[in-house]
Amino acid sequence: MENQATYNYKVVRQFAIMTVVWGIVGMLLGVFIASQLVWPELNLGQYFHFGRLRALHTSAVIFAFGGCGLIATSYYVVQRTCNVRLFSDGLAAFTFWGYQLVIVLCVITYPLGITFNKEYAEMEWPIKILLAIVWVAYAVVFFGTIAKRKVKHIYVANWFYGAFILAVALLHIVNSAFVPVSLWKSYSAYSGAVDAMVQWWYGHNAVGFFLTAGFLGMMYYFVPKQAGRPVYSYRLSVVHFWALIFTYMWAGPHHLHYTALPDWTQSIGMVFSLILLAPSWGGMINGIMTLSGAWHKLRTDPILKFLVTALSFYGMSTFEGPMMAIKTVNALSHYTDWTVGHVHSGALGWVAMITIGSIYYLIPRLFDREQMYSIKLIEAHFWIATLGIVLYISSMWIAGVTQGLMWRAVNADGTLTYSFIDSVKATHPYYFIRFLGGCCFVSGMFLMFYNVLRTVFDGKPVNAPIPAVPAHA
Ligand code: HEM
Ligand code: HEM
Repeated sequence: MENQATYNYKVVRQFAIMTVVWGIVGMLLGVFIASQLVWPELNLGQYFHFGRLRALHTSAVIFAFGGCGLIATSYYVVQRTCNVRLFSDGLAAFTFWGYQLVIVLCVITYPLGITFNKEYAEMEWPIKILLAIVWVAYAVVFFGTIAKRKVKHIYVANWFYGAFILAVALLHIVNSAFVPVSLWKSYSAYSGAVDAMVQWWYGHNAVGFFLTAGFLGMMYYFVPKQAGRPVYSYRLSVVHFWALIFTYMWAGPHHLHYTALPDWTQSIGMVFSLILLAPSWGGMINGIMTLSGAWHKLRTDPILKFLVTALSFYGMSTFEGPMMAIKTVNALSHYTDWTVGHVHSGALGWVAMITIGSIYYLIPRLFDREQMYSIKLIEAHFWIATLGIVLYISSMWIAGVTQGLMWRAVNADGTLTYSFIDSVKATHPYYFIRFLGGCCFVSGMFLMFYNVLRTVFDGKPVNAPIPAVPAHA
């Protein structure tokens, strides 16, 4: 029986290590599918075809890498800020093994072509049910810990993690409504435009709550910690929270501009996307201003560099998103690689950078070390990752705008100036640059893996004692 006067770091360690492992797997898949777009002969038969591996890439990076990072940090933050051990060690262990099983089942079934056919929700119904059970267990552990807290106040990071957990449960359950026809095949319970609307209500809120709210929870804990400064404005963080979660829910239709969806719903989606700029930037400014008086630390602290650069990319992608939601802009950007560039400025710039920074903060604390094995390697990781992102997103912007302009170009007699294949040819060099960017980013992950392994082997697993008097977490 583990000592009740310590925090449960075991499950945090497990999820933290798997974050790095799944990060490498998911990003290697990203590099592989990027290379398939450059060299189509790499589409090796039906199991390793772009169409199947693409879904594996998105799930591996979002749910395996991002998800493990979110669960690891939320378990750490909720214990430290509530001054209690996790609600249940057994249930926490169940969430770890259950979540890994879900991921492994996806890794097996997606290449086999077993899919529910909804983006970011491709898992078939038996896996969906398992995930729902694991997620409910996660909610019980998280909210159970909050319920037994020794600190009256619930720190703002926990509000964001809590919203992420509740919203993802709701999204997963509603969007997964299925009619099974066999053990490994089911169909959506919705049809037509309603099905599309439900899917993009889900899809956009997966961005809002999985890829944003949860990571803002991370931001509100790890940025002040690493900077050694309190949050710039606690009041702003509360306004930020309520404004963000209210607005996100309405913006989904911007994924369905100019479709069979009623026009007024598209307009609502556009308006709420524009409004969303305000809370997003409120949060970004709150994070960046937390560095007031500590800017000099950026020169020497590569972990802080990861965290602050993540915030800058968050600001950038949440400016770009509302612009792309304007119907006339979307008419140019939709179906092009501009969208893919936007996705990765959020995914690599914001999600991956904030996760990597937070994991670098955590690992030494979980393994009884003063700091990571090599600060120089973290610095190298930072620069190679940043270079990778710049190559990735700038090439996709150019490719996207080129495609959009070529598709709409018409001759004086009204015929199309370019055939589709002309635009594919024009895009090809940029796909190669994106591939190089991906190679840079994943190389950084290998540096991280080595650095983490050295730190783990030099240290030993510890469970920090819970202070008798609630201290600053
Ligand atoms: C204010 C915030 C944001 C708004 C209003 C917004 C808006 C948009 C718009 C208009 C699209 C293009 C839809 C289309 O033409 O198909 C899009 C796509 C996307 N965005 Fe954002 N975005 C925001 C922030 C973010 C962030 C921070 C991330 C990632 C961390 C992100 C991830 C995505 C993804 C994954 C897609 C592609 C969905 C798909 O087609 O599969 N967005 N976003
Ligand atoms: C080494 C890094 C990465 C590389 C090389 C890479 C590459 C790719 C490629 C080639 C695609 C397919 C684009 C297409 O269909 O034309 C894609 C899609 C996607 N990736 Fe990545 N990726 C990387 C990292 C990530 C990370 C870390 C995330 C999330 C945290 C992510 C999220 C996504 C999403 C959401 C899509 C679907 C975009 C859409 O539907 O518009 N990727 N990625």
